[in-house]
Amino acid sequence: MAWKLLKLALCLCWLLAETQADSAKDKKAKEVDDNWWRHEVFYQIYPRSFKDSNGDGIGDLKGITSKLPYFVETGITAIWLSPIYSSPMVDFGYDISDYRDIYPDYGTLDDFDELIATANQLGIKVILDFVPNHSSDKHEWFKKSAARVSGYEDFYVWEDGTEENGERKPPNNWVSVFSGSAWQWHEERKQFYLRQFTKGQPDLNYRNPAVLQAMDAVLTYWLKRGVSGFRIDAVNYVFEDKQLRDEPLSGATSDPNSVDYLNHIYTRNQEENYGLIQHWRKLLDDYSEKYGGPARIMMTEGYAELPQVMEFYEDENGVQGANFPFNFDFITELNSESTAQDFVFTIQRWLIYMPPGHSANWVMGNHDNPRVASRYGAKSVDAMNMLLMTLPGIGITYNGEELGMEDYRDISFEDTVDQPACEAGKDNYKWISRDPERTPMQWSDEKNAGFSTADSTWLPVHPNYQELNLANQQLAPSSHYKVYQSLIKLRSSKVLKDGTYTAQALNRRVFALKRELRGQPSLLTVINVSNRTQQVDVSDFIDLPNRLTLLVVGVNSQYRVGERLKPDEIRLTPYEGLVIQLKPSK
Ligand code: NOJ
Repeated sequence: MAWKLLKLALCLCWLLAETQADSAKDKKAKEVDDNWWRHEVFYQIYPRSFKDSNGDGIGDLKGITSKLPYFVETGITAIWLSPIYSSPMVDFGYDISDYRDIYPDYGTLDDFDELIATANQLGIKVILDFVPNHSSDKHEWFKKSAARVSGYEDFYVWEDGTEENGERKPPNNWVSVFSGSAWQWHEERKQFYLRQFTKGQPDLNYRNPAVLQAMDAVLTYWLKRGVSGFRIDAVNYVFEDKQLRDEPLSGATSDPNSVDYLNHIYTRNQEENYGLIQHWRKLLDDYSEKYGGPARIMMTEGYAELPQVMEFYEDENGVQGANFPFNFDFITELNSESTAQDFVFTIQRWLIYMPPGHSANWVMGNHDNPRVASRYGAKSVDAMNMLLMTLPGIGITYNGEELGMEDYRDISFEDTVDQPACEAGKDNYKWISRDPERTPMQWSDEKNAGFSTADSTWLPVHPNYQELNLANQQLAPSSHYKVYQSLIKLRSSKVLKDGTYTAQALNRRVFALKRELRGQPSLLTVINVSNRTQQVDVSDFIDLPNRLTLLVVGVNSQYRVGERLKPDEIRLTPYEGLVIQLKPSK
């Protein structure tokens, strides 16, 4: 019943949004490029750390615009920007105080329009981060809601809680992702508000149709400014149990303040989240149909069990949702200890669960998790990029991963700015902090790695920048960047776009994956995930007789591009990867 009511509310909102849209509606559907995103590499930019154009030590929009030619040189044709909106920056932009304006240190709406126009000229599509679950507590909506201004009373999730011996108690045991109760007392309103992240990020109430209507209008606003879609933040947190039931203890820890204390059956992955994404799917599709051009896409962020994640692609009735929900398996399921079998199994698992007709995607890193070089080891950088680029579907690269940038874990507590790390205190901040993977982009060996001319930057630059930087890698005969560039180039081949996929663990340490398409040379990627040199024989995995020619090799390889290999004598040094072309021998 509740679900039906919600659906009805969603439909009503949709109708409203529709009537608000352009009055001179062109009924004739325009030409839409439906499939541009299916084999795309999306490059994530963390705006604060990408490029500072005005010397204040903080990255900005003009900085990004100035670097757009870099994407052309690299072969990147789609970028997604972590939040650029007005924000008090408690969670560095994931706490939005105005969904329709730009954070002043990043620039202005004019700068944004210029970024879009330049990107368009260069053939680069721009995706924006959209944060629907919560706003900032400095947002006008929240201020009005706290003051019970008419029309805003229920914009957020407010509850009375209980009183015991004169002491206020939150309504239930829910905990915030960043530790402590998820309920924050608000003195002015004399109620608790729900906040699943920092206390500056109150949860919006999507059971109020006015909230949905406001968010629909925000999406349309940015679509009209020319974005090609959205990355939707924390979508599996949007709805919570209506009855506010206590969550059961997980047994994983005895610390009631820890997010791991509870099994989050009432605050995450609620059924209504899927309905919301389906609603926005329709909004985007209708927009694309009306105005033509690239299909406007949606990629959703939700760390959850595989079947729950898959539901974002489409529900059991085939109702379409996100273009793709992020696949975080390379972050959450695999690490430097994983065996070849673990890799093959984990990759296969996604492909098995993914509903037919959809595109797979592979996220190698992001601003919330340690970098590839720090998770898998510096020697694995090229092999992991080979894997990312030769798997079927979409690849997601976090800025700096094309250079093999490393976490700067030794940032002092005094220089630490990531809120949960600050709250964890001097003794515990180090391994919690997300600052280490957010340090400025290493462009060159100039001051601040060429990121900024300021005397100090918002986060310190990794001290290894004098050797590890783009300029060096562009000049070097072989580098991580050059490997990455050649992999992107290879992605335009038909076999990587449309070919079938097969993988096999050749032993515990080495696995191979094969892409095949009738009439095209096949591709073979072979990866050693161990710290030992391995010699493998791929004869049983490929159709013989075949000519094996190396297309991409890593920076430390004993082999050269163009070299021929014998199928039964492929030698891989520790963590080495190779991309090989297979052509029938005449
Ligand atoms: C996920 C974002 O990636 C992360 O950086 C942020 O802290 C939370 N969502 C809350 O918005």
